[in-house]
Amino acid sequence: MESAGLSSTDQKLIRESWQKVSGSPLEHGIVLFTRLFDLEPELLPLFQYNCKKFSTPEECLSSPEFLEHIRKVMLVIDAAVTHLENLHRLEEYLANLGKKHQAVGVKVESFSTVGESLLYMLEKCHGPAFNLNVREAWTKLYGAVVKAMSCGWDVLRKVE
Ligand code: HEM
Repeated sequence: MESAGLSSTDQKLIRESWQKVSGSPLEHGIVLFTRLFDLEPELLPLFQYNCKKFSTPEECLSSPEFLEHIRKVMLVIDAAVTHLENLHRLEEYLANLGKKHQAVGVKVESFSTVGESLLYMLEKCHGPAFNLNVREAWTKLYGAVVKAMSCGWDVLRKVE
């Protein structure tokens, strides 16, 4: 995960495009998760707070606990953007985060849908400025984050 193959231009494009998003993370995170539930509604029941399942995405998206999860997701992405040059520092944290997600029933494959939803949110935010180069830079970064998180799943699989 050293540099995730990110050139200095990739890093610059990611930092610049994240600036606008990080100014209002919750608002953009809601766009991301709304898209995620559109693409993969099966993920909705995985979010349960006090053993209560949500019956609609709208109900989920207006719960304070879920909004906290959105903030947490945006903070992880923010940390990745901050550590573009030394992503390996996040490896252990991300592997642990992967483990926690496996424990709550998330399949590693669902993280591809999260990636699509992330790109969707970035495109909504930037419009045509979100060109192919910016998209590719983000795809590399997100791929590196998922790769690090998937180590958490792999470790558990070996123990099973
Ligand atoms: C497939 C989509 C996802 C599902 C279904 C999911 C589900 C969950 C659930 C049920 C929890 C525990 C309850 C909570 O803290 O709200 C959790 C915690 C968390 N999630 Fe997710 N999550 C998803 C994606 C992500 C992504 C993409 C990130 C960041 C890159 C992330 C970051 C976190 C963090 C930081 C926590 C708190 C972990 C802790 O307590 O130490 N999640 N997630």
